Amino acid sequence: MLKNSLNVRPSGGGAGAFIEGVDLNTLDDDSAGVIREALGEHGVVFFRDQAIAPEKHMAMAEFFGGINVNRFFAHVDGYPKIAEVRKEPDQKGNIGGGWHTDHSYDQIPAMGSILLARETPPDGGDTIFANMYTAYESLSDGLKATLQSLNAVHSSRHVFGAKPKSPLQRESLKGRIGNQEAAQQDAIHPVVIKHPISGKQALYVNPGFTLHFEGWTEEESKPLLEYLYKNAARPEHTYRFQWADGSIAFWDNRASWHYALNDYHGHRRLMHRITVEGVPVGR
Ligand code: SIN
Repeated sequence: MLKNSLNVRPSGGGAGAFIEGVDLNTLDDDSAGVIREALGEHGVVFFRDQAIAPEKHMAMAEFFGGINVNRFFAHVDGYPKIAEVRKEPDQKGNIGGGWHTDHSYDQIPAMGSILLARETPPDGGDTIFANMYTAYESLSDGLKATLQSLNAVHSSRHVFGAKPKSPLQRESLKGRIGNQEAAQQDAIHPVVIKHPISGKQALYVNPGFTLHFEGWTEEESKPLLEYLYKNAARPEHTYRFQWADGSIAFWDNRASWHYALNDYHGHRRLMHRITVEGVPVGR
């Protein structure tokens, strides 16, 4: 007998789908297969009201691949495999407050992350997701053809290795992001990738970690990258997810970007994040 009867309901926006009818404490291979397909199709999937202990959060992640232990994030006490995404009432800076996709600086980028809301502010703290399939599909045939021949250089150095530039940045990193000397990753990936699950083409550059096109200077790359970023962030490619305690967003880094809004000063927001290993990305 099936433990779960899953329903995949598109978000109604430009990215993502809600998955209903599943208790992630009792995940099985069949349900994980449905979730994997939905992730490949929609780039991010959302779950509500999941009362899930850290052990079950890890067990769930392992249905999708090995756990990637983040080099830079503080971890949850007693759970080194779970990264903590925390903002306290007296902190001003947040983590992930700009468009990015995680781990594009790695040779084999992580597949995605499973972010679980433990404590949410009364208002705000939403996360916006953007769809990298439609970001690509919406371009002209001429530009698509140009992008297909390009690779881009990605790095962690300027984000996690850089010294804080202001007291606000220093305060916002303290106790949350560390290990700066480990920020030594650079990687070159195709600008348009074939998604490992869906087989669809997706744009694979992002404002957080992409430096320039391979063989182009940063100055030469900037205008085209900025055009691609502006197009990708258009509202029709996005969906804004409102969190509640027990909500989960499971995103696929190869098919989406995300942006954590920082509009809830004076309140705590506490999330647990597990990142799942990926496979090499290719054309
Ligand atoms: C992140 O970028 O991993 C954090 C996303 C969020 O807190 O909503």
